[in-house]
Amino acid sequence: MNIILKAFVTGTLMLSLFGFYAMAEESFSSNVDKHGNIMLPDDFRNEMVHLGSWFVPEGGASGFHDVYTEKASVEFYRKNGKFPDGATIVKELRASQAGTYTTGKNVSYANNELKQWFVMVKDSKGRFANNSLWGDGWGWALYKPDTKEGGKFKNVASDYKTDCLGCHIPAKQNDWIYTEAYPSLKTER
Ligand code: HEC
Repeated sequence: MNIILKAFVTGTLMLSLFGFYAMAEESFSSNVDKHGNIMLPDDFRNEMVHLGSWFVPEGGASGFHDVYTEKASVEFYRKNGKFPDGATIVKELRASQAGTYTTGKNVSYANNELKQWFVMVKDSKGRFANNSLWGDGWGWALYKPDTKEGGKFKNVASDYKTDCLGCHIPAKQNDWIYTEAYPSLKTER
């Protein structure tokens, strides 16, 4: 093979390998950029599956905590008992309100007062080792309704080890997720 042909073949091979690598990285998660910045998914209440809800009666986090993930991530979890890489879990906090309805007194519901959103993105490969918002198998993020930057909600968490991990220790054996409240992950009714 002459040298020009060799260079051409090597170049093409390298380009296609690079292309494949870039594609693989791109498909990791549409909610994460190449630096590991996590975005709050748009319209998640409509695009994602509702996993389940918590009701916190008092304190700063009081109200309803509604949790969502992708449909494909639910299907993967049902088969494999774990979340796939790139799975995004969104927890939305809303204030609660109670009233008398035809079902009874003190009926509570999540009203329009948004409190915050917690987001976790599964990453079993430690893709962003030098980023203080990634580790222990996840990317960790927190958004507040009044903190926007360039039209997007800004992640206000700075270090998952101090901002998040301590409170998730009871769920450590479960890959840090409180799955007991997520009936959508189970196949039985
Ligand atoms: C005060 C303790 C506390 C802190 C701090 C905390 N969490 Fe949680 N988190 C919980 C508990 C408890 C649950 C489930 C019950 C609930 O929502 O009340 C939960 C649930 C979640 C969920 C839903 C999935 C699951 O694990 O069940 C996500 C996503 C989440 N947290 C992300 C985060 C992120 C990201 C941070 C840091 C920015 C964080 N949490 C900080 C206690 C905490």
